[in-house]
Amino acid sequence: MNLTLKVWRQKNALDKGRLETYQAKDISEHMSFLEMLDVVNEELIKKGDDPIHFDHDCREGICGACSLVIDGVPHGKEHATTTCQLHMRHFKDGDTIFIEPFRAKAFPVIKDLVVDRSAFDRIMAAGGFISINAGGAPDGNAVPIPKPDADKAMDAAACIGCGACVAACKNASAMLFVGAKVSQFAYLPQGRVEREKRVRAMVAQMEKEGFGGCTNQYECEAVCPKEIKVSMIAKMNREFFRAAVSAK
Ligand code: SF4
Ligand code: FES
Repeated sequence: MNLTLKVWRQKNALDKGRLETYQAKDISEHMSFLEMLDVVNEELIKKGDDPIHFDHDCREGICGACSLVIDGVPHGKEHATTTCQLHMRHFKDGDTIFIEPFRAKAFPVIKDLVVDRSAFDRIMAAGGFISINAGGAPDGNAVPIPKPDADKAMDAAACIGCGACVAACKNASAMLFVGAKVSQFAYLPQGRVEREKRVRAMVAQMEKEGFGGCTNQYECEAVCPKEIKVSMIAKMNREFFRAAVSAK
């Protein structure tokens, strides 16, 4: 199929940026969205033009590196799908596709479609860890954990830190991400040792980075490629309230 792309080009964080038009020719429906961009970039490089910069790594939906707002939706319109797992069979010959970066004050554009998501790393560094001497691998059932709690912790741990939740939210709130990262520890006994310190530090860092607050828009849940639920935000709020009234 042949497609028209309207792609956001921006030299650096200070450049104003603009949409530019490109033609993507002879695109197979079996290609992924990123492979389609690879084809366009090969043509640009052959002509001596600057290729379109975009983030990617695993291309398997597990690393969280890919981003892109496709036709106005972070990761595109397919449900629970990262940009790297989005396939061109979901588009039609002759389509015009708009491709923009994730937009949020806390995610400044580095170049074109690449944004700086290191704010997430700093939130994790503030409290997203367990500081115990782990020693050797414990026996599987040495610490009994109820199955429902283990399931909720696993659901929370599915977050790949992509940032689509921030890009979709009109407040650029990071509460779905932070909610998932707080909850993955809070549901487990190992994570409860430092629970007050952790939630206070992670929420403080989230606010310092300039993310907005949650006003229950649910846009984050709608675009999350890992189907993280807003109940994680409620869990984080309960943890935060618990920490606020705790002497620890
Ligand atoms: S909560 Fe979902 S959308 Fe947000 S960073 Fe995690 S995986 Fe991405
Ligand atoms: S490139 Fe790793 S999740 Fe898309």
